[in-house]
Amino acid sequence: MPEPVTNKNAPIALLDSGAGGIGVLREVQKLLPREQLLYFGDSLHAPYGEKSTAEIRRLVLTAADRLLARAKALVLACNTATAVAAEQLRRRYPDRPIIGMEPALRPALSVGAHPTVLVLATAATLGQEKFARLRQKCEKSATVWALSAPGIVRLVEQGLADSPQMDAYLSTLFATLPTLPDAVVLGCTHFPFAQKSLRRVLGDLPFFDGAVGTAKELRRRLAAQHLLAPKDAAGSIMLRTSDPRSLPLFLRLYQQ
Ligand code: DGL
Repeated sequence: MPEPVTNKNAPIALLDSGAGGIGVLREVQKLLPREQLLYFGDSLHAPYGEKSTAEIRRLVLTAADRLLARAKALVLACNTATAVAAEQLRRRYPDRPIIGMEPALRPALSVGAHPTVLVLATAATLGQEKFARLRQKCEKSATVWALSAPGIVRLVEQGLADSPQMDAYLSTLFATLPTLPDAVVLGCTHFPFAQKSLRRVLGDLPFFDGAVGTAKELRRRLAAQHLLAPKDAAGSIMLRTSDPRSLPLFLRLYQQ
């Protein structure tokens, strides 16, 4: 069994299939400015959402093992990685905070009345038993539509988050909806980067994503395990990727 990391000065790792988790990184940095944050985007293998469960699990476990060799905690800044590999990782690293994400359907239903909610996520997230259970619980209080949107991930990875190509893709995707929903859950960390385009196509609907909630949960877990960086520590950010061509995109999205 791996050694527990009890060093408060060790970094916190964040993992995504590519650039999507940068939005989570930003929220974590705002909330925990004294921490050393090590971001890894597996751009070489993005998108995860269209791969088989076994393949995604293998990629996530491989990257997580490498990151947890030095990190005190891991944020799965990716709904897909969480849906597919969080349970295995928690079993493998029972003493380490492993923070995952799920489509923010519960928050969408707890804030105001939203009789119809559209969940956008990857096919892999929507196909997991975990999402079926969440959906079933929430369908007691709302009609839940779910759509996979692989084109958003691809366009964000190509640096086209706010572009005519994104508008065209979204217009086609939403043409299948019977009416406009009352709220939209962005259940993939790439999707908030397409929010301008989403608003142009869907109008000014309430959008929900899990970035802030994930940062708060991370802080809570670190505090509970006495793993928060010391008050005089200087925070830092390190961006890593399996495809160095993605670094300029990571930086641009971080600075946005
Ligand atoms: N950003 C990821 C998520 O939150 C997945 C995107 C992908 O690689 O398909 O689900």
